[in-house]
Amino acid sequence: MPHVLAKMSMQLLAKSNVDFLSIASRAQSNYWSNVPMGPPDAILGVAEAFRKDTSPKKVNLGVGAYRDDNNKPYVLPSVRQAEENIFKKCLNHEYAPIGGDPVYCDLIAKLGLGENSLAIKEKRNATVQSISGTGALRLGFEFIGKHYNHAREIWMPSPTWGNHPQICNTLGITHKKYRYYDPNTLKFNLKGCCEDICSMPPGAIILLHACAHNPTGIDPKPEEWQILSEIIKEKRLLPFFDMAYQGFATGSVDNDAFAVRLFEKHGHQIILAQSFAKNMGLYGERVGGLTFVCADQDTAAKMMSQLKIMIRTLYSNPSINGSRIVTEILSSPELKAQWLKDVKEMADRIILMRKKLREGIEKRGSKHKWDHITSQIGMFCYTGLKPEQVLRMTKEFHIYLTKDGRISVAGICSSNVEHVAEAMHKVTAS
Ligand SMILES: Cc1ncc(COP(=O)(O)O)c(C=O)c1O
Repeated sequence: MPHVLAKMSMQLLAKSNVDFLSIASRAQSNYWSNVPMGPPDAILGVAEAFRKDTSPKKVNLGVGAYRDDNNKPYVLPSVRQAEENIFKKCLNHEYAPIGGDPVYCDLIAKLGLGENSLAIKEKRNATVQSISGTGALRLGFEFIGKHYNHAREIWMPSPTWGNHPQICNTLGITHKKYRYYDPNTLKFNLKGCCEDICSMPPGAIILLHACAHNPTGIDPKPEEWQILSEIIKEKRLLPFFDMAYQGFATGSVDNDAFAVRLFEKHGHQIILAQSFAKNMGLYGERVGGLTFVCADQDTAAKMMSQLKIMIRTLYSNPSINGSRIVTEILSSPELKAQWLKDVKEMADRIILMRKKLREGIEKRGSKHKWDHITSQIGMFCYTGLKPEQVLRMTKEFHIYLTKDGRISVAGICSSNVEHVAEAMHKVTAS
């Protein structure tokens, strides 16, 4: 073989000044020839198609990121102020502790579980900083895969955020669906949900969207959460709350944490994934948290030790900038008050756009019912548009959304709401 290479190299060298060694070694083998081309991400693929569209009318309703009324990315005034405060402190860039800064962890646990949480008072919570909401879910699911000794299957609402089943698939964890959305009534299917809960094996994990369900925008009412909590307790299931939108549903972070706090009060040993991507607009900072509410302090300490071991081999320790911003806001009464106002403003703008969109479609004489646009909550609206109608929205009107008909109302503003209403009316008229 060395002889062949030598001969080849001489020939190649004689003909041109090409780097013969690299050609020869490439020809020898392709170590990755087994890797197939993967499909684009359903949501980020929409963003990509939007970017390529040159029409001035184009609207992106695919990605769940808040835009202001000029359709521009929004930096919350509370976040700007926090950044200025942090800059003035001239802090260093040392590593954060493996589980994140304990002050940060304490603040976010209280934001989720409430200031009066018994679990926090009794030090029964194991809370770590995570890489936003996705990282919290990934860490939580992985922890379940490694340490959970009961029915290791995760039941998810149907439909749910596409990344939930994908994370389970990556980890080889069984996931199943329970009924959540009723396409006939366009409402939460309490009866179907309860029937499915009754068929789950004891100890199974039930994934719940704490508020502003993605993609449907439909949450159980407080009295329905009560029922769910009771039967989940009776069936001895483990509730895993995904809270990616605290504040976005009602404009109040306390109202939106209702289910989480109710379950904790009822004695559930909940798991809680938190994200500050949406409610602080810290999308790219990737800051969030994962909390296990445990039976006792001793278990919480053991859980914490294992979480740290898991994090150490995943990403060693979390990033510091995002958590500093969150800490600055949550630890200052003035900044926190400003942030609560900012969250309310974002939620209110979305509610106003829902109203304008519905009015815009109805005033064009639509024969369909559009009350779900205003009855649903949070960032998303499950419009009911069929895949072929979604295609027309994009082809004829340059409006981008996911195939399931979900739109991010946060992408609608005063200058494009009539265009979106016109498009929705036209594609559903014929
Ligand atoms: C239901 C749900 N969970 C979790 C996330 C995680 O978001 P991030 O990782 O940006 O915090 C999202 C984001 O769209 C979501 O919709």
